[in-house]
Amino acid sequence: MNIIHSVQEMQARADEMRRLGKTTAFVPTMGYLHAGHVSLLRIGKQKGDDLVLSIFVNPAQFGPNEDLSSYPRSLERDLELAEKEGVDAVFVPTDKALYQDGYQTYVELEKLPHHLCGLSRPVFFKGVTTVVTQLFHIVKPHVAIFGEKDFQQLAVIRQMVADLKFDIEIVGGPIIREADGLAMSSRNAYLKDHMRPAALSLSKALENSRQMVQSGISDAREIVEKATEILAAFPAITIDYISICDPVTLDDVALIEGRTLMAIAVALEKIRLIDNTILQP
Ligand code: PAJ
Repeated sequence: MNIIHSVQEMQARADEMRRLGKTTAFVPTMGYLHAGHVSLLRIGKQKGDDLVLSIFVNPAQFGPNEDLSSYPRSLERDLELAEKEGVDAVFVPTDKALYQDGYQTYVELEKLPHHLCGLSRPVFFKGVTTVVTQLFHIVKPHVAIFGEKDFQQLAVIRQMVADLKFDIEIVGGPIIREADGLAMSSRNAYLKDHMRPAALSLSKALENSRQMVQSGISDAREIVEKATEILAAFPAITIDYISICDPVTLDDVALIEGRTLMAIAVALEKIRLIDNTILQP
């Protein structure tokens, strides 16, 4: 497995892979890998002859009062896991390699970021689309895999790739959960045992909503009210949003008539947790 820190070296490797006629699959991450990331690597393994993973905690997607400095990191463990999963190359740039002195170019979407997570994290998607654009130009993949756990991020990347004509296939991977239903996340490392029941209330509220829709309820407001009740049973939780919306435009819907996204974001004692599901009558 190649471990590459330099942009030029990564680009030269990408050119060589293309010259050899290989298809490169790419999984971008911020590290502290868990089974969710591994599931994307396994999809990548199926999709390409060459599998590249990037590990970079991207400062541009963190707001001033967010957890950039405390974001969990474990490069050694991540590299072991990557090796075990058959990753061919890991790109681990420094902050300065991607944001060199004098850096001033950002990629920003006009509509999709003004929904869901973008409302409380105003710089987040601009940071994500900027770093993913850079990574695409460095890794030069044919296919890139993103998780549905970050549903809005996946929607934003798909839109950016279509708008800017990136010649890259974007593949979404399903949400991987712990046995008790908690969606896997690097930020779960912050959770203390006593916070577990509150953390589980997100997946419980989503499951309950799916059952309501199954039983014939289609009024979004009624479903949001019930979900709010389930979350509000835990005083440590502050709800950021509970949204029932169109999975493409992310605009709120009042009635669940077809495939609809339900997404939740909360702060649990300052730890940001998100989860989502598809509601289908
Ligand atoms: P990170 O949070 O490390 O996630 C990397 C990828 O793993 C994302 O595509 C995310 O959706 C996916 N993922 C996380 N938890 C998952 C789960 N439980 N099931 C399935 N997939 C899961 O998302 C980022 O990093 C960054 O914003 C990045 C795209 C790398 C840009 O910096």
